[in-house]
Amino acid sequence: MFAMNSGMSNDLFSVAPATVADIPALCRLAEATWWHCYRGMISDEQIRFMLAWMYEPERLRSEMADGVDWLLLCRAGATAPVGFAAWSGTGRGREARLHKLYVHPGHQRRGGAKALLDSVYRRAADAGYRRLSLTVNRHNRTALQCYQRAGFHPCGTQVRDIGGGFVMDDYILARPLAAD
Ligand SMILES: CC(C)(COP(=O)(O)OP(=O)(O)OC[C@H]1O[C@@H](n2cnc3c(N)ncnc32)[C@H](O)[C@@H]1OP(=O)(O)O)[C@@H](O)C(=O)NCCC(=O)NCCS
Repeated sequence: MFAMNSGMSNDLFSVAPATVADIPALCRLAEATWWHCYRGMISDEQIRFMLAWMYEPERLRSEMADGVDWLLLCRAGATAPVGFAAWSGTGRGREARLHKLYVHPGHQRRGGAKALLDSVYRRAADAGYRRLSLTVNRHNRTALQCYQRAGFHPCGTQVRDIGGGFVMDDYILARPLAAD
């Protein structure tokens, strides 16, 4: 694993910060990954509702301006992104929150999520955070397996009304971040 100023890379993937110019690619990736992952786990109506809400380009632009750190995953030697992560501080002590972790279905199970997570750990630790938390749908077994493997532990549940008649029914997970 080679650390770089802007991100991280391994043999198969590189990770680098996203900019506003990457928003269209982020939205396309979200669309492809969401339908593959969430169809059957939540209703099609809820998928449409959440994609329109969470991936509205102006919302992403304002999140980037407000300090949410969006990271792009690319296959080594390629420029088209195949995944992304987003995290920011929570405003509660030294806790950071992982908001997004997505790898395109055609590129999963090759260490892409691990490369993104390693980059988030390093950047969040360098910014002074000592704990990384996240929420994940209780029925998302693949993601739960990925987070468990990455050292996250369960620390609660959260049912959140997101409007439109929909709720997010999640586990809260967290893991420590190394200080050095
Ligand atoms: C969850 C997700 C990000 C994992 O991405 P990935 O690039 O395939 O993950 P990696 O290859 O880095 O695998 C990391 C670990 O996750 C676990 N894992 C990943 N995919 C898995 C699967 N299909 N079944 C079981 N475990 C799996 C494994 O433990 C794996 O480690 P291992 O290969 O050493 O056993 C990806 O499946 C995804 O984008 N899913 C849809 C979106 C999503 O659910 N995001 C999380 C929202 S909270």
